[in-house]
Amino acid sequence: MISDHLYIGLMSGTSIDAVDAVAVTFNSNGIELIHSHSEPIPQDLKQQILDLCHPHKDSVQLLGETDHRLGRLYAKTSLSLLDKAQLKASQITAIGCHGQTIRHAAPSEGNIPFSLQIGDANILATETGIPVVADFRRKDMALGGQGAPLVPAFHHYAFADAKINRVIVNIGGISNISILPIDGACGGFDTGPGNVLMDLWSQTHLGTSYDHNGDWAASGETHQALLQQMKRCDFFSQSAPKSTGRELFNQHWLNSQLTRFSELAPQDIQATLLSLTADSISEAILELDIPVNEVYICGGGAYNNALMVKLSKQLPKVMTTEPLGIAPSLVEGCAFAWLAKQRLNHQCGNLAEVTGAKRQTILGAIYLP
Ligand SMILES: Nc1ncnc2c1ncn2[C@@H]1O[C@H](COP(=O)(O)OP(=O)(O)O)[C@@H](O)[C@H]1O
Ligand SMILES: [Mg+2]
Repeated sequence: MISDHLYIGLMSGTSIDAVDAVAVTFNSNGIELIHSHSEPIPQDLKQQILDLCHPHKDSVQLLGETDHRLGRLYAKTSLSLLDKAQLKASQITAIGCHGQTIRHAAPSEGNIPFSLQIGDANILATETGIPVVADFRRKDMALGGQGAPLVPAFHHYAFADAKINRVIVNIGGISNISILPIDGACGGFDTGPGNVLMDLWSQTHLGTSYDHNGDWAASGETHQALLQQMKRCDFFSQSAPKSTGRELFNQHWLNSQLTRFSELAPQDIQATLLSLTADSISEAILELDIPVNEVYICGGGAYNNALMVKLSKQLPKVMTTEPLGIAPSLVEGCAFAWLAKQRLNHQCGNLAEVTGAKRQTILGAIYLP
């Protein structure tokens, strides 16, 4: 029976493909998925978000308008989910909404750190009639943390095992890992590009927003010299805590990497970008100081067959999160439903050992309808 512990989680990540929504309940057995809904982000809104991600194309007017449009899209997504699940707004305790990142400046020497997620939570709360928890990252950053990744604490709650060292890999636009050793600890960090570079190259050469199943990449050959050059990017050798985004891995980065390789066939470049994603994930996992027994993949990258095949060759026991009970595309939405629950229960959401914050803390601000 559905109790009063129902939450909605909303996620829209760096890929800017869709708003992924879940309705879940929490009980003594853990998290239970009730329903899900994915609402595509319209192309013109995606372009607005991309412009905001670009330091020379952003403006306060564009920021305000996009914040409003995203708030309305989040509300529409939540209402469609309620409709599909045949749930009433009054049954939902809260919506956890990540928001759309338009800039992430991780703390590093010489910069002023900040992370900006937009999508007006006031609109989301008033249009749905449901309290919203949003703005999850900035409290962690106020405490000196990266503000990212935030999903490891949820992965620990949902997927840790007392007998098996597990790693959860979330392959969205950017990829991050959560390390779940049997001793109950939890680590994690961003490993670098997930799908973002492959998506950019597919858009340029296929005119599609992504390479379906990785078929195009599979038709090409990895170019070793290009791969090695890309792997020399400083981010990969930095030690954790670390986080990244479109500020680094973007069209400009890709263009600069390709200047000496303009003669390569486009499908070989795609194969090489796939290898970069696979290698940076695999190497991060193989360099851990625990023997990893199982690797579970979530995020849209779990649907890229060529990427899954490559990861399976490089790592022990690779599978999607499906056998753990949550479809790969829904894990992040579940994480933000859980973070909303943590906020309402006055429990911590971040892990200081993951983000580098001074301490663990309660994350998120509450917006009432
Ligand atoms: N069938 C598929 N084949 C290949 N790639 C896919 C497939 N489905 C999703 N993806 C990839 O996953 C991305 C979306 O992943 P997602 O987890 O939503 O990332 P984000 O959190 O950054 O939005 C798409 O842009 C695409 O690159
Ligand atoms: Mg997405």
